[in-house]
Amino acid sequence: PLPDPFGVPLPVPPVLQPTGTDETTDYYAITQRAADVEILPGLTTEVWGYNGIFPGPTIVTRRGRRVVVRQRNELPVPVAVHLHGGVNPAEHDGYPTDLILPVGGWEPNPEHAAHHPMGDTTQDEREYVYPLEQRACTLWYHDHRMDFTGPQVYRGLAGFHLLRDDGEDALGLPSGDRDIPLMICDRSFTEDGSFDYPSLDPSLGGAPGVGEEMMEGVLGDVILVNGAPWPYLEVSDTRYRFRILNASNARRYQLQLDPPPADGPSFVQIGSDVGMLGAPISHDQVEIASAERFDLVIDFSAYPVGTEVTLVNAYGTETTRPVMRFHVVREESDDSSIPDRLVEFETLDPATAVVERDFRFARDRIDGERMWTINGEPFDPERIDADPALGSVEIWRLRTNVHHPVHLHMAHFQVLTRNDREPGPYDAGWKDTIDLAGGEEAEIIIRFAGHTGRYVFHCHNLEHEDMMMMANFQVS
Ligand code: C2O
Ligand code: CU
Repeated sequence: PLPDPFGVPLPVPPVLQPTGTDETTDYYAITQRAADVEILPGLTTEVWGYNGIFPGPTIVTRRGRRVVVRQRNELPVPVAVHLHGGVNPAEHDGYPTDLILPVGGWEPNPEHAAHHPMGDTTQDEREYVYPLEQRACTLWYHDHRMDFTGPQVYRGLAGFHLLRDDGEDALGLPSGDRDIPLMICDRSFTEDGSFDYPSLDPSLGGAPGVGEEMMEGVLGDVILVNGAPWPYLEVSDTRYRFRILNASNARRYQLQLDPPPADGPSFVQIGSDVGMLGAPISHDQVEIASAERFDLVIDFSAYPVGTEVTLVNAYGTETTRPVMRFHVVREESDDSSIPDRLVEFETLDPATAVVERDFRFARDRIDGERMWTINGEPFDPERIDADPALGSVEIWRLRTNVHHPVHLHMAHFQVLTRNDREPGPYDAGWKDTIDLAGGEEAEIIIRFAGHTGRYVFHCHNLEHEDMMMMANFQVS
């Protein structure tokens, strides 16, 4: 029996305080550990959380300030931490085999040794160093352990990292407690309140992945926002900025407001995955796939005080249709604005591309094992599938069989074409993930600026990722 929706207030994850700060750098420390929390009223759920909370604490830093995060692993399994959207040196990117082993050590099941390779691995702790010279945006950090990302993120290993800069501050956008990150994800629960993830091996030390019925990806019947089931938020009749992240393993959403405003758009998009748009875009609905971010403003002055406005998922049915509810409870003056020009936006020019590549995302059977592949190949940490030069621009053509949200580490891109036409309504801006429906083909233009080294690109449907839909590019 699931609770009624809109019964609990929206939690906002706490902002993590630095343990130290000097002229160039802010230092943080996080311990990954299990904790019992109440997600469904009256039941206890064990989460695996950064500092024992889900979502993890929000890290808020400024562009140009280096950030060092010391991660300690008090969980019973290895972990790897990836800052999604971050332009980071390869050794700090959370490569899927660069593990932090648990305090007290860890032994995998030797029969499945192939699924437990170790690259640059430490025990107990590891320090991740992030230069963060990139555009202000909504980053998020999450687990990235090879073959086991799906179950580990499902148990709670995900949090926000908001990167701000002076240019963004000068825009006069809604700020303070009217700038709210929303992590949307779906989960299922067993009767005793535990997360119900169908791992083949629940110890996460043997065979990875899920059974045939779940090959497409694990979906839940409870929608959580910032870790709470279908929460509500009391708002004033003013503009709010919501940084929406789809942290679901596999579910995509079409977000709408019910009722929509009598006039004016439901949402004004100001930013995409990894930065501000050049100019705002109005939407009456927004489609968001796993790992994508949409930086949206909702103007509640369109509603009389007393209105209840529901954020719904038009792709959902019954319990997965409602997402959360806003109660417009009071009048307030609003000096925020959404300027017509947000930032100087640099559109990448296809004429500058020096290499074109093709990648096909599909399902295959290899040596009798069912898996998801890129160009027919399962993930192999040793194989390099693309070798861009540092600073160069390339065009990649991505093709799919079924729906796949495709994500590149380190390198940011723009969408050039979708099915040989103009990009779609949700493709604008700087992206690190592109949502591709089945049978779609897109061209993306990528600048490999930042760092040399080996990075992964993969499907961000976490079950597809764990079942091999990942490959490497090596920047040199
Ligand atoms: Cu959000 Cu490779 O990850
Ligand atoms: Cu996929």
